[in-house]
Amino acid sequence: MASQNAEEYILKESLLNHEEDQLYAPLGKPGGRSGYRYLILMGTVVVSLLAGYSIGQTTVHEPVQYGLATPPGSFRTVWDLNTTFIQRPTLKSEAAWNSLVPVGRGFVHHPQLAPFVSNIAVFHQLHCLHGILVAYYKALESPPTSNFTDIPDFDHETGVKTAVPHIHHCFDYLRQTIMCAADTNMEVLDRETHATNGFGQTKKCRNYEHVFAWAERYANSSDTGILS
Ligand SMILES: *[C@@H]1O[C@H](CO)[C@@H](O)[C@H](O)[C@H]1NC(C)=O
Ligand SMILES: *[C@@H]1O[C@H](CO)[C@@H](O)[C@H](O)[C@H]1NC(C)=O
Ligand SMILES: *[C@@H]1O[C@H](CO)[C@@H](O)[C@H](O)[C@H]1NC(C)=O
Repeated sequence: MASQNAEEYILKESLLNHEEDQLYAPLGKPGGRSGYRYLILMGTVVVSLLAGYSIGQTTVHEPVQYGLATPPGSFRTVWDLNTTFIQRPTLKSEAAWNSLVPVGRGFVHHPQLAPFVSNIAVFHQLHCLHGILVAYYKALESPPTSNFTDIPDFDHETGVKTAVPHIHHCFDYLRQTIMCAADTNMEVLDRETHATNGFGQTKKCRNYEHVFAWAERYANSSDTGILS
């Protein structure tokens, strides 16, 4: 549908750019002036169709309500603050983070969807968020420094390896992750404070458990844990 619309649009554009007589010019002798024009016109039409097709390929229809794309998924849930995922890493909190990651760590092999071993993005994204959390607490405990390569990369208590320079890319990766998902759930402001922390309200989401189960079904290894 999208590709057809784009095709039609570009086709109309290119036709409007031509004089009527070019459209209806009779076929001249081969090599004659109108034959040449006809070839140019047909070439333009073919190029336009190809351009329209490739534009269509990048356009995906998404459900829209009142002009705004609706949130993905059909799973309703209420987000509540879970302090396990904000605290300084301990063995217990690390176990909780690890439990978010399926067997195979999200690396899957599937004949159609992942013919080459691939990682489902959400698991890479969680890995990045966890890495930032670990580095944040390490940085808080480190002497003031302007050099992130100075921050110790190993925590003896939890056994977590921080790899601070490695997680640096996560800021931009997560920025693009957030903009890509462009979550359009509405967060109602508190009537008095006119603020919201995003918790305590129903959200429409994908069902994480379903994605998790699929990842385990097509896991490409038996590795576990979130890794830092
Ligand atoms: C927070 O998450 C942990 C680990 O998944 C879970 O055991 C615990 O019940 C959660 N706490 C709340 C208040 O939801
Ligand atoms: C940061 O530390 C690394 C490794 O110790 C060093 O090579 C680099 O020069 C330092 N950079 C700054 C700005 O101090
Ligand atoms: C991992 O994927 C490769 C294909 O790239 C496949 O040959 C291999 O059997 C898979 N391993 C597991 C454990 O799924």
